[in-house]
Amino acid sequence: MNSVPPSIPGAGLPSSESDAAVSVGSVTRPVKAEAVGLSFHYGTAQALDDVSLRFHERAITALIGPSGCGKTTLLRCFNRMHDLYPGNRYSGRIVLYPDGINIVSREIDPIGLRMRISMVFQKPNPFPKSIFENVAYGLRLRGVRSRSELDARVEAALRDAALFDEVKDRLRKPGYDLSGGQQQRLCIARALAIEPEVLLLDEPTSALDPIATARIEELIVELKRRVTIIIVTHNMQQAARISDFTAFMYLGRLVETGSTAEIFQNPRRKETEDYVTGRFG
Ligand SMILES: Nc1ncnc2c1ncn2[C@@H]1O[C@H](COP(=O)(O)OP(=O)(O)O)[C@@H](O)[C@H]1O
Ligand SMILES: [Mg+2]
Repeated sequence: MNSVPPSIPGAGLPSSESDAAVSVGSVTRPVKAEAVGLSFHYGTAQALDDVSLRFHERAITALIGPSGCGKTTLLRCFNRMHDLYPGNRYSGRIVLYPDGINIVSREIDPIGLRMRISMVFQKPNPFPKSIFENVAYGLRLRGVRSRSELDARVEAALRDAALFDEVKDRLRKPGYDLSGGQQQRLCIARALAIEPEVLLLDEPTSALDPIATARIEELIVELKRRVTIIIVTHNMQQAARISDFTAFMYLGRLVETGSTAEIFQNPRRKETEDYVTGRFG
């Protein structure tokens, strides 16, 4: 990790201990990505202030904090969604391993980046296309043309999203025909089809009923074996149930991060304790 070839655009030196891996139970999890002194402005309004935070492989990191504290803003930095609007400004770095590129460097092409880091939004947003074409979309964008390869990879992604059995007989029907929970799993399948290294989830169950929510939580836990997951949630029970690490944010700053057990049972900071015990937010 320290031998980043100089030819990689935007590659920065890893921060001092970025090789550090953490162990949870008997499993060791290397760092997959880390924000280093990351700040972000919407025009003149600062939404993130000097955030430094690591994200581990094969783990789920939950971003929690009251509304408006910058959770979505941080998540959207990871796939450069903010680039779509003029006047937005990043400073600091988000380093993605193993190659060590700086995600927020201008030299990094956001289109290529979104093949490595995909995102699922709060409200299910299937494209106005068939179930099949929703999932095939990113593959076609990547230049996959072979019918048999498309078929196989769409099926695999739908299976990964625990949706295949429910839709296998109607793959040509519109994605909109599905229930809300199924649509969100379709969006997860679409995000997984390109085999991303990091999956970003922004309150993915907030529009869903408890049964659909439980289904998606199970799925997320299953997926962490293969993909690094960062999930924004305002539901603290959800963070406690599914995440390995939790980061508490407040007013655009990172207040505290640690294992989910630590953050919920033994937080170091008073603000964290007040928030996780429901005293504000
Ligand atoms: N497009 C935008 N333009 C200007 N300010 C924004 C924009 N989106 C969010 N903000 C502001 O940035 C801050 C963080 O918002 P956000 O990241 O959406 O918080 P959260 O997801 O934690 O609720 C808030 O003060 C919000 O008003
Ligand atoms: Mg948000």
